[in-house]
Amino acid sequence: MLSSADKEIKIKDVKGKLGVLLPGLGAVSTTFIAGVLAIRKGLAAPIGSLTQMNHIRLGRRDNNQNPLIKDFISLVELDNLSFGAWDIFEDDAYESALNAGVLEKELLEQVKDELSAIKPMKAVFNQKYVKKLDGPHVKQAANWYEYFQMLREDIRNFKKKNGLDRLVMIWTGSTEIFLQRSAIHETKAAFEQAMKENHPDIAPSMIYAWAAIAEGIPYANGAPNLSADFPAAYEFADEMRVPLAGKDFKTGQTLMKTILAPGLKARMLGIEGWFSTNILGNRDGEVLDDPESFKTKEESKLSVLEHILQPELYPELYKDLYHKVRINYYPPRKDNKEGWDNIDIFGWLGYPMQIKIDFLCRDSILAAPIILDLVLLLDLAGRTDFKGIQEWLSFYFKSPIHAANLYPEHDLFIQLMKLKNTLRFMAGEEQITHLGLDYYLDN
Ligand SMILES: NC(=O)c1ccc[n+]([C@@H]2O[C@H](COP(=O)([O-])OP(=O)(O)OC[C@H]3O[C@@H](n4cnc5c(N)ncnc54)[C@H](O)[C@@H]3O)[C@@H](O)[C@H]2O)c1
Repeated sequence: MLSSADKEIKIKDVKGKLGVLLPGLGAVSTTFIAGVLAIRKGLAAPIGSLTQMNHIRLGRRDNNQNPLIKDFISLVELDNLSFGAWDIFEDDAYESALNAGVLEKELLEQVKDELSAIKPMKAVFNQKYVKKLDGPHVKQAANWYEYFQMLREDIRNFKKKNGLDRLVMIWTGSTEIFLQRSAIHETKAAFEQAMKENHPDIAPSMIYAWAAIAEGIPYANGAPNLSADFPAAYEFADEMRVPLAGKDFKTGQTLMKTILAPGLKARMLGIEGWFSTNILGNRDGEVLDDPESFKTKEESKLSVLEHILQPELYPELYKDLYHKVRINYYPPRKDNKEGWDNIDIFGWLGYPMQIKIDFLCRDSILAAPIILDLVLLLDLAGRTDFKGIQEWLSFYFKSPIHAANLYPEHDLFIQLMKLKNTLRFMAGEEQITHLGLDYYLDN
């Protein structure tokens, strides 16, 4: 096991201001921004955020050393965050948060001045990639390469205007249509050429990611579209020493799945079928009502069980598993999704049982703390000189990006262990394996 002693880790000073760039100023991003502003004012608590609330054990259990993560490793203080965004609509963050209807007006009024000051920059957008949306606040250029240059300009101006020391970018824009990797995604040279030729296999989210990498900015994708999940982007990120993370925030039904499935598997219980259906009525739900955007989401949601359950190793338990995921757009529900799961399981001697879940979930409330943690941890990764795919951040994603020779790790508890051990490693602390062998051997 690599320990900090084998490789000297130096974390750069955290001082200064960190800019948070968000392509997409909708429900999730405004809930995140308004939440941070409210927490700064002491109006609410950062519930759901590991970086703000979780403790980390150091050394043996009898040492009783369990500092808060934020006291243990250098993370940017919430007061030192500044927010910037792009959107295809002109609404500022206050108006957009009101439209999204996630947070109560009373809370929004208390942070109205700061929210109103966040006005989105013109977006790189093409309706071909999000069929259900169209908006007037968009850039005009001849090809993707020109759009890329315009975004770089936006980023530099934002940094200068706000006196920022560093930046991170998180894609919080709509889910784009399903695109597969093609030859243009293979190398950096091929991708840059394709940008100049305005290639149809390139979508706007890729241009934002490319601009972030070019500017040396850590990047994460909160949606399931490719964005930065292809070899050319990995190559470019390695070259620029930029951390990358993604895809698709792990909230709601998939969060439940990755909590429950490892438990059922740990006890060697079989699963015959898992049927998941949702109703939701926000703009995300409307976008996902388009079959092409839904296909992108579906791929992301379906892969989870396959990887956790390993049917190739446990054919008697999981080979015939029937897994179905449905999302239904139902406007009256707004952002308050309801997700039902019916799970047909079997136990000793093959006897069947059923589990039913009815999760009355608030999507953006679950996603906002994920954004906060990713902002702070990606900045930490950047200051630690970690480059390329940040697998230790898989904890936050439905479809964790991963190296070509590895399968993605979906089990929430393995992901958590990996995240915390990476923090220990960065800080020069011993990694915790939970073995405790010295106890048996000493006695
Ligand atoms: N809420 C969750 O729990 C959750 C979980 C996982 C993933 N996500 C993903 O996060 C994303 C945001 O979700 P949301 O609920 O905030 O959706 P939303 O529709 O409220 O917000 C998305 C915003 O992105 C804007 N947009 C679309 N294309 C753009 C572009 N090219 N450039 C700039 N802006 C663009 C839209 O105008 C919209 O304002 C979606 O892709 C969603 O699938 C959300």
